[in-house]
Parts: sequence; structure tokens; C-alpha cells
Amino acid sequence: MKIAVLKEKRDFESRVAASPETVKKLTALGFALVVETGAGAGASMADAAYSDAGATIASDMAAAIDGADMILTVQGVAADDIAKLKAGTMVLGILNPYMDKDQLNALAGAGVTAFAMDLMPRITRAQSMDVLSSQSNLAGYKSVLDAASHYGSAFPMMMTAAGTVPPAKVMVMGAGVAGLQAIATAKRLGAIVSATDVRPVAKEQVESLGGKFVMVEDDETEAAETSGGYAREMSDDYKAKQATLIAETLAKQDIAITTALIPGRPAPMLITEDMIKAMKPGSVIVDLAVENGGNCALAKAGEVVEAHGVTIVGYRNVPSRLAADASALYARNLLHFITPLAADEGDGLAIDWEDEIITGTLVTKGGAIVHPALKGA
Ligand code: NAI
Repeated sequence: MKIAVLKEKRDFESRVAASPETVKKLTALGFALVVETGAGAGASMADAAYSDAGATIASDMAAAIDGADMILTVQGVAADDIAKLKAGTMVLGILNPYMDKDQLNALAGAGVTAFAMDLMPRITRAQSMDVLSSQSNLAGYKSVLDAASHYGSAFPMMMTAAGTVPPAKVMVMGAGVAGLQAIATAKRLGAIVSATDVRPVAKEQVESLGGKFVMVEDDETEAAETSGGYAREMSDDYKAKQATLIAETLAKQDIAITTALIPGRPAPMLITEDMIKAMKPGSVIVDLAVENGGNCALAKAGEVVEAHGVTIVGYRNVPSRLAADASALYARNLLHFITPLAADEGDGLAIDWEDEIITGTLVTKGGAIVHPALKGA
């Protein structure tokens, strides 16, 4: 069975869906790996490393997909290229199916069997395949470095002969995977860290990292977490109470890192323009949710905005800013997904189409959108 690895074509995307390490392991499972030339260049993974690991290097995309049964991608296949895929080809990627309806419909139209790795169920067995966790973890780390590089003061307290430099005060909004890594990173840099979330279980996690938990607790918060571990959208009444608490806390901060997301819905607006105005001059906000609508009113995707004396950082695709690590982890997520599918005999696949991991990620098959949460959407 032939597995192709494509060079990503989207802007701001430097990651690649396979590493030399995963190519070697997939080859050992009996698959024939073909890597499009230059696919790993943005992640410092050279063609030669892939061929040493057992892959064939294809001179272009057409040669890579020729006869391929499965295609490994980061963000799916470019719009112009989907029609070139033969019906029944499997495509794996972070397909963003709630937002990127055009790609979803095109994949269905082409008869592709597409798996959205970003819909991976949060069950113990699938932890090693959880692409949102692997990528968010790196994004959370990088968000703090981005904040530090735009901040005109230091993070740690420093006692010098010329006087004391006070530690930076960092507030992290959304204490999920990205937020918890942001808290840990800011602590390592010496900042005083507080964090907020709507899921009460986040309190213990924040505190175990040395952060102070700031949260509106009422009857609604008990039901704020879905069975899948994600947040629900909160009521207008809750949002108003949360806004008051955030406004008070934010005015005392130097840095705010926002990471709050609700799957399938626009990101919650947490920092209004009035709150920005109340922040200290020189403060920095990094909005990691900017591509999902943003948590901060004035954040702009792909831009660094100066407003009311505050720097608002809205970089796109933050995991791609650490492309080597992000690719290595993502490639392993895919390897862990594919390995249990490898047939015991021959070089094919033995897929249990009823398995929760398959039904949870399979979005298109046989010419139709098949995922229950996306059908008719
Ligand atoms: P996410 O990326 O969807 O959201 C980020 C954070 O924003 C979440 O903690 C969420 O509660 C928070 N949030 C949403 N609306 C908010 C609001 N209005 N105000 C403040 N915060 C808000 O979530 P993520 O990081 O992907 O995962 C959430 C949780 O899922 C993790 O903390 C973890 O406990 C659990 N998890 C479980 C896994 C497993 O069992 N395999 C794997 C990864 C995460």
C-alpha cells in the first residue's frame, strides 16, 4: 500500500505530516512511503533524511499522489488539488471541518475517505493520537516567548546594584492544554501567573503549576465541561459576571495570553476594548484564538496591533512557528493512528469502521459527509 506525504501549500504553514522517524516506522510496517520533494524543508527535514529512512522522493505533487492509497497532510489537500485524487483515497489531516466547509464539501465530492485528526475523541486509548494536544502544547509555550519578545520589560524579578526589576504579572485565559503550558512557561521565566477558565477542574491544574486561579463560580460552572472534556458556551449572565472579574484582574497585569476555544463555535470574546484601555501602557496581549474569531476585541489575525498603549499579538498558526517540534509530534500522532490499522498480513489496512476512533474522525466517505456532527451542516 502506498502512502504519500505532501508539501503543504497554505500560507503560514511550515509543518509536515511525516518525519524521517515515522517514515522508517511506517516502512517497517510494510507500507511504501513517497514524500513530495521539499515537503519537510520548513521543518528542517531534508529529502535525503526521508530517503535514508526508506521513502521514495517524488518530484512533484502529481508524482506523489500517483497510485497513492493514503495521503498524509497537515491541513488537508489544497482546493485545486482535491479533484486530482482518485475516489477512495484516504486523506488524513487537521481539516478544521467546522470552519473549512469548502474543503469538507470538496473532499466529499471527490469521493475521498477523509479523517479529520482534529476531531480525535478524548479517550485514553487515543491520547497518543491527539493532535490538538500536541500542537496546542507547543503553541502555549511559544505564546509566552512571543509575549516576552514584544514586552519592553523583563519577566523575572532581578535584584541589581541599580535597583530591583519587578517580576512581570501574566494572566492566562483558558487553562486547557495551551493555557497550562503557557502558565508553566511563564512561571519558568519568573513571572507571577494567574489564570481563568470556565471548567472548575482547571483550578487544581492551574494551582499545581504555581498559578493563582481566578474564576466566577456559580451553578452554571458545574455543567461547563462537556463529557468530551471541552467547554460549553456560557450564558449571557455568566459572561457579564466573568467580564467584571476579568476587567478587575486584567488592569493589574502586564501580559495576557488568551487561549479560550469552544469546539464548533466562535471563540468567546473575553477582552473588550474598554478592558484594553484600562491596561497599563506597555502591556502585551497574545491572542492564540485569533484565527477562530479571537478572544480579544482588537486582535487581528496575522498582525501585531498597537492600541491604547497595548501591543496585541495575533500571529497565525502558532504551532507552525515551531515547525520542527510541531511536525515531529504531529507525525507521531499520525503514526499512532495508522499503526493499529495495519493488517496483520499483507501490506494493506484492516479498518474497524465501527471503532470510536474511526467514527469520531471519519468526515467523508463514498461521496458524502458522514460524520454525525457535520452531516447537513
Ligand atoms: P480548547 O482548546 O477547546 O479550549 C481551551 C480552554 O479554553 C479550555 O480549557 C476551555 O475550558 C477554555 N474556555 C472556553 N471558554 C472559555 C471562557 N469563556 N472563559 C475562559 N476559558 C474558556 O481545550 P483543550 O485545551 O483542547 O482541552 C480542554 C481539556 O481537555 C484539557 O484541559 C484536558 O483536561 C482535557 N484533555 C483531555 C485529553 C484526553 O483525555 N485525551 C487530551 C487533551 C485534553
